[in-house]
Amino acid sequence: MCGILGYIGKERALGTFLDGLSRLEYRGYDSCGVVGIKEGNFFLKKHPGKIHELRSGLKDFLEERFPIGIFHTRWATHGRPSQANAHPHLDCKSQIAIVHNGIIENYLALKDALIKEGHKFVSETDTEVVVHLIEKFYNGSLKDAVYKAIKKLHGSFSLGVISLKDPTRLIAVRKGSPLIVGLGKDGNFIASDIPAILPFAKEVVYLKDEEVAVIRSDKVEIFHFKGSSVKLEIERIRIKPQDAEKKGFEHFMLKEIHEQPEALKRIFSLYVKRNTIEFPYLNLDEKYVKSLKKIFITACGTAYHAGYVAKYFLEKYCDLDIEIDTSSEFRYRTLNVTKNDLLLTISQSGETADTLAAVRDMERHGVKVLSICNVEGSTLTKESDGIIFTHAGPEIGVASTKAYTAQIMVLVLLALYIGKIRKTIAEKDLKVMLRELSVLPEHQKEILAKINEVKKIAKEFSKFGCFLFLARGINYPSALEGALKLKEISYIPAEGYPAGEMKHGPIALIDEYRGVVCVAPKDFLYEKMISNMQEIKARKGKILAIVNCGDTQASRLSDAVIHCPQLKNNDFSPMLVAVGLQLFAYYVAKNLGCEIDQPRNLAKSVTVE
Ligand code: M6R
Repeated sequence: MCGILGYIGKERALGTFLDGLSRLEYRGYDSCGVVGIKEGNFFLKKHPGKIHELRSGLKDFLEERFPIGIFHTRWATHGRPSQANAHPHLDCKSQIAIVHNGIIENYLALKDALIKEGHKFVSETDTEVVVHLIEKFYNGSLKDAVYKAIKKLHGSFSLGVISLKDPTRLIAVRKGSPLIVGLGKDGNFIASDIPAILPFAKEVVYLKDEEVAVIRSDKVEIFHFKGSSVKLEIERIRIKPQDAEKKGFEHFMLKEIHEQPEALKRIFSLYVKRNTIEFPYLNLDEKYVKSLKKIFITACGTAYHAGYVAKYFLEKYCDLDIEIDTSSEFRYRTLNVTKNDLLLTISQSGETADTLAAVRDMERHGVKVLSICNVEGSTLTKESDGIIFTHAGPEIGVASTKAYTAQIMVLVLLALYIGKIRKTIAEKDLKVMLRELSVLPEHQKEILAKINEVKKIAKEFSKFGCFLFLARGINYPSALEGALKLKEISYIPAEGYPAGEMKHGPIALIDEYRGVVCVAPKDFLYEKMISNMQEIKARKGKILAIVNCGDTQASRLSDAVIHCPQLKNNDFSPMLVAVGLQLFAYYVAKNLGCEIDQPRNLAKSVTVE
């Protein structure tokens, strides 16, 4: 969950590395550090805070140029955020430097043994053992010392290592945590993710698990942990540098909320051609789709909520048994699976540790895995049998927005595709649904146009100390997602509940000091929602309702409303409701002065368990 950047090549200014590192800040932002080699010495600076603060502290050095360096932004696991615990870490003689993403599970035993051998530790991190191990094993070859050190490690780790003893090499290691090698014109890079290297490199090699890269300014060699040399598989980087910029918006989150119509349009035009749905990397033949009995859906956080919408959709339109669970629970369950089952995973990053563990476990049981993922080249895309890309473009804000509605769009298309093959959806119904899906981006724009109204509502509602989000049916996941968005960026406690469950407990929370967000589109459960809203009103709860344009009943019971266009098929409404809920969460958080793109304690890619 940390971000790593490394470079070797023609000298580059420190400021450009800090720019690159900032583009990894979504991975963790509680401390950061840089180390470069200059005239035979380390130039090391660490800071127990954000990269812009480190940059201010280094303002006189931003033009200093370095031919080699490693850089890090941290999400603390072992040891609080502090100067000492920030990476890079050095060995006893300050000749080897290391940055790490992951967890060394056996670090305590290793640390005790190294201390007994005389090594001096200065941090509370698990990472520091690695640099002392490399020091211990160094005997003229940095690569050999790294090899010997990693044999001792349990856990997940991507590493960048440099040494004063051999400043012509940058060593990179990948086990469990992602790492890429960027190939530039005047030098080569390592990074946890592509945005870090976007302006510098056009080609990339995705390191696979248990690989070591020995990187020089003009040469990259890759070896397996067992020692054999690995052929370089070079891929072109397709993202443009400007895709990872704010483009005039105050926050990435706001920009990404606004990018949703474009993302849905892109998905539709890529996967739907003349009323036929096609997925190029699906890898599931029709016979298998017809024989499917059950789909297990697993994902985390927002992606899990998208999966929850898909559960309703697949059950209704595909005549399938669907089970859904968060990956962190799913991976430890005892399940009866058959070869007629499918695991469907959903992940923006494709690097979420729990989701990857679930995939590996199901593959061991012989179950096919289909993944919905946004990041090309990510581990999930390499390890799944089939893959459907969401093509939402880089999502940098920690709170997921455009990835969510993109995931739902792809999942809905997948359900329609499966339904057509299984003949559970009639051709004429499919056409009608595709027509409505094609205009959803325009409907999202109608909600975005109401931004000033949402801003006013958010101002009024940001005084409440706690929120309930209620909905029924296919919008129940919208309630879960609305509550997650609000709590993760505003820190206001918020719970998503099925509205019918309210009287089984959560109703005790309701009074004039709490906000209740009711998702109440005009569908077959509308009257039931109205009854729930009456119950809230009777207890003086303050209601914000997400209703359809032209609504009267729900609106009369509400203190504020956000209008969504009425759809012919309400099953698509989660893609509209989400926009209103995201804007609401955004403006509540802004009103409270919260750090919207980098909420406290969070990281975007959760690459540890
Ligand atoms: O990259 P993934 O989609 O696998 O990430 C899953 C969750 O960590 C993620 O959705 C998280 O809940 C977001 N912060 C939600 O906004």
